[in-house]
Amino acid sequence: MNILLLGSGGREHALAWKLAQSPACTRLYAAPGNPGIAEEAECVALEATNHAAVIAFCSAHDIGLVVIGPEAPLVDGLSDSLRAAGVPVFGPSQAAAQLEGSKGFTKDLCARAGIPTAGYVRTASLEEARAALACFAAPYVLKADGLAAGKGVVIAATLAEAEAALADMFGGQFGSAGAEVVIEEFMEGEEASFFALTDGSTVIPFGSAQDHKRVGDGDTGPNTGGMGAYSPAPVLTPELQARVMAEIVEPTVRTMREDGSPYQGVLFAGLMLTAKGPKLIEYNARFGDPECQVLMMRLESDLVAIMLACAQGELAGVTPVFRDQTALTIVMAAKGYPGTPEKGGTIMIGDTEAAKVFHAGTALKDGVLVANGGRVLNVTATGASATEAQRAAYKAVDAITFPTGFCRRDIGWREVARENA
Ligand code: AMP
Ligand code: GLY
Repeated sequence: MNILLLGSGGREHALAWKLAQSPACTRLYAAPGNPGIAEEAECVALEATNHAAVIAFCSAHDIGLVVIGPEAPLVDGLSDSLRAAGVPVFGPSQAAAQLEGSKGFTKDLCARAGIPTAGYVRTASLEEARAALACFAAPYVLKADGLAAGKGVVIAATLAEAEAALADMFGGQFGSAGAEVVIEEFMEGEEASFFALTDGSTVIPFGSAQDHKRVGDGDTGPNTGGMGAYSPAPVLTPELQARVMAEIVEPTVRTMREDGSPYQGVLFAGLMLTAKGPKLIEYNARFGDPECQVLMMRLESDLVAIMLACAQGELAGVTPVFRDQTALTIVMAAKGYPGTPEKGGTIMIGDTEAAKVFHAGTALKDGVLVANGGRVLNVTATGASATEAQRAAYKAVDAITFPTGFCRRDIGWREVARENA
C-alpha cells in the first residue's frame, strides 16, 4: 500500500520511520517532510491547505492511507475532504478535532459528560472576562479558546497580571484564537500524557509519557512545545490508566459519537494527577511532539495495521504491543527558542551509536545539515530504565556538534530521581 504522511517535524520523522518498517508499506510519501524524513520517504511539495491538490495526489499515486501529523490540517477539515473522496485517513474530522481546536468546546463536553477537569467559565469579551476573575483565586489560568501553537495559556500569579493578559488576548495577541477566553481553576499535581486510539466506537490505550514543557533545566523559563520526553510514565500506574480510560477517555469518545461527530485517530489527553485523582487539562487531536518519538521507539506492533484499523472502524481486537523498556528523547533546539531561533547553524552528527536522531527542524544547504526551526533534533534512546535511557541519549547528544544549539541536561529527572531514591 502507498501511504502519504503530512507534516515536517520530529513527530512526523518518528511516524515515517515506523511506517516505513511495515511490510504493508509499499511506497511512503511525505509532504513536505524534512531531511530526516527523506531517509524514509519520498518528500513531495504539497500544501495541506489545498485539499483538492492533496486529493489529486492521492488518486495519482494510489494512496491507501493518509496520516495527518499536526493539528492545523485537522482543524481545517482535511480529513473530511479526504474521506469524502474515498481516501482512508488517520486523523479526526473537523468536528471531532474541536476537542483540540476549541478549549471551550472541550470544557462544555466535560461538563455534560461528567469528566473530571478544572472548573471554568467561557468569556467572549474583556468586560465579561474581568468580571469572571472574581469567581477565581490566584494563580489565574487563562486560555485563548482556539489554536495558538501552544502559546495560548497564561498562568497569572496576581490579579493585575491576569487583567493584563486578558487585555492582550482580547486585544488580538492570538488573532481569532483569542476571541473567546476560558478562565479555569488552577489544579495542582504532576502532569502526564496519555494516548488512546479510537475508530469512533472502540477505544484502546496507546501508551503514556511525560514531557518537559519549560525551556530551562529544573523546569524554569518560558513554556515551549516540549524540550524532551520519556515513555512510559510509571506515575500513571495501571490503576490510574484504568481510571483515565473509564472516567475521561471513554465518556469523551461515547459523547462525541452520540453527538454525531465520532472521533477517529489518536486522542492525546494532557492530565493533572491531583490529590483527588486524574483530571483532564486539555485534549490534542494528534500525537504529542516529542511524545510521539518515544512512543514509536517502544512500539513493536505494525503501525500501518493499527492506523488502518482506526481509519476503517476495525479497531476492535487490536492490541498494540510496546517494548518493556524506557525510551527517552532530548530536544536539541536552536538558540533563541522559544522566541526567535537562530537559523542556519551547522550540525554535524557523529557516532550516535544505538540512539535514533529524529529531525525536527533541519534543512540541507549545499549538502550541509543546518538548523531550520526552533526545535531542531530529537535524540532518542531506549534502556532498561529511565536512568539508562537518559545516559544513552545524552551520550548521543554529546556526539553531535551544533554550536548554535542547546538542550536541557535534565530530561527525565522526575523518573530518574524516583529510580535512584
Ligand atoms: P494546555 O495548553 O492547556 O496544556 O496548558 C499548558 C500548560 O499550562 C499545561 O501543561 C499545564 O502545565 C498548565 N495548565 C493548564 N491548565 C491548567 C490548570 N487548570 N491548572 C494548572 N495548570 C494548568
Ligand atoms: N509536547 C506537547 C504537545 O505536543 O502538545
